[in-house]
Amino acid sequence: MADSSDARPSAGAALSAAALARLATLLPASSLSVDADALQRHGQDETESLRFPPAAVAWPASVAQVAAVMRWASAERLPVTPQGARTGLSGGALPVRGGLALSLERLDRIRDLNVADMTVETEAGVVTGQLQEAVAQHGLYYPPDPASRESCLIGGNIAEDSAGPHSCKYGTTRRFVLGLEAVLASGDVVHTGSANRKDVTGYNLTQLLVGSEGTLAVITAATLRLIRQPAATLVLGFGFDSLERAARAVSEVFASGVEPAACELMEARAIELLARSHDLPSELQGAEAFLLLELDGETSEQLLAAAARLGEVFAPNEPLVAQDARAQRRLWKIRSKIGEAVKGHSSYKEVDAVVPRSALAALVRAARRAATAAGLESVCYGHAGDGNLHINLLRGELDQSTWEESRDRAETELISSVLELGGAVSGEHGIGWTQRRHLTRALTPATLDLMRRVKQAFDPLGILNPDKIFP
Ligand code: LAC
Ligand code: ZN
Repeated sequence: MADSSDARPSAGAALSAAALARLATLLPASSLSVDADALQRHGQDETESLRFPPAAVAWPASVAQVAAVMRWASAERLPVTPQGARTGLSGGALPVRGGLALSLERLDRIRDLNVADMTVETEAGVVTGQLQEAVAQHGLYYPPDPASRESCLIGGNIAEDSAGPHSCKYGTTRRFVLGLEAVLASGDVVHTGSANRKDVTGYNLTQLLVGSEGTLAVITAATLRLIRQPAATLVLGFGFDSLERAARAVSEVFASGVEPAACELMEARAIELLARSHDLPSELQGAEAFLLLELDGETSEQLLAAAARLGEVFAPNEPLVAQDARAQRRLWKIRSKIGEAVKGHSSYKEVDAVVPRSALAALVRAARRAATAAGLESVCYGHAGDGNLHINLLRGELDQSTWEESRDRAETELISSVLELGGAVSGEHGIGWTQRRHLTRALTPATLDLMRRVKQAFDPLGILNPDKIFP
């Protein structure tokens, strides 16, 4: 269940029959649709219950076709919204001004896996989980693992600089992107970076495009850096009697000298919502908050020694230890399903807050304070090792106008606390459509103005994913 209060009808750039006819000459008939079902599907992502159907959907199957579509859009001055699997959580892929939804899902080829150099060149439409499996067959590892990794596309991950539990040790998507192939709004194809591990040839356009949320260029392919699969992994769980205690424990993990591959926090209420639809191990019940840690390394002896060290830090708390792959998968599955469980329970508004790790306890206090003051329930879970929590404000039984007023008040107060703590408005879900109003508080006018001029340089007509990021 989600919130429809932001779902205004789109101003909807309609496509004239003539413009559509011109587009139809550039693509095979099976690559273009104005079918109501398709428009409906491509008018939504996973953000709340926002709906902005485009006027048409295109599924180009080559870079040349993407370029032709963008040349057409420039000539027609029509908005184009690039889309991956539409699993985003800030509305970044919603065609809020109608026009054309440009799906990258048919660019789905892994072009080259270079085992010797440990790089992979992949098209944008490859499912992230499938890319991970393909490289794992050669003992290689692509760590970024958004909760949606079984369905999200690598191009969308790059556009959003997506992340997941393993960014704790390995960093977010951007740390793995060496080079990009992208199509500009004009239809020109650009290549940024290279397959080299070092490259300072001119501006770092690669890292400018990573996280640009489809507003600067259409990413069609990427060269990614890979690492070796760790030989051993161990998953540990610790329960705590308060959320704040669990948040403080995160710093204690790092202070102990153990560097976890992942360090996730789940509040009891989040686990309880999940338990309504899933069978949970009894060890996950009873605590007020739970930390899920993954350790990885060369040998299991080494990991068990690290686990023993953490056991001492948190004594007398007994850890839950998952040694075999099946038990580990089970715990990770629980973690990755939490977002859906929270969303399924109530209309919600999510604040994807990130703060320096040492400020986590202050962040959870601020979340409770802001929610309680507005008469709302909050549920926290997320990537505690990165200082990144998904704080969900729940509507519960409130009527629409009370909800909207309470939600906006709580969100505004919470963002103020986040910024005071030295944090940022979004850790991984992006600004997209839903977080734009916070940008003027988060960035100075000069910084925001520079960003606008970057946008202008890439997309002078403003046709590429308009109305995103900027307030
Ligand atoms: C997660 C998604 C919501 O961490 O980012 O589950
Ligand atoms: Zn997350």
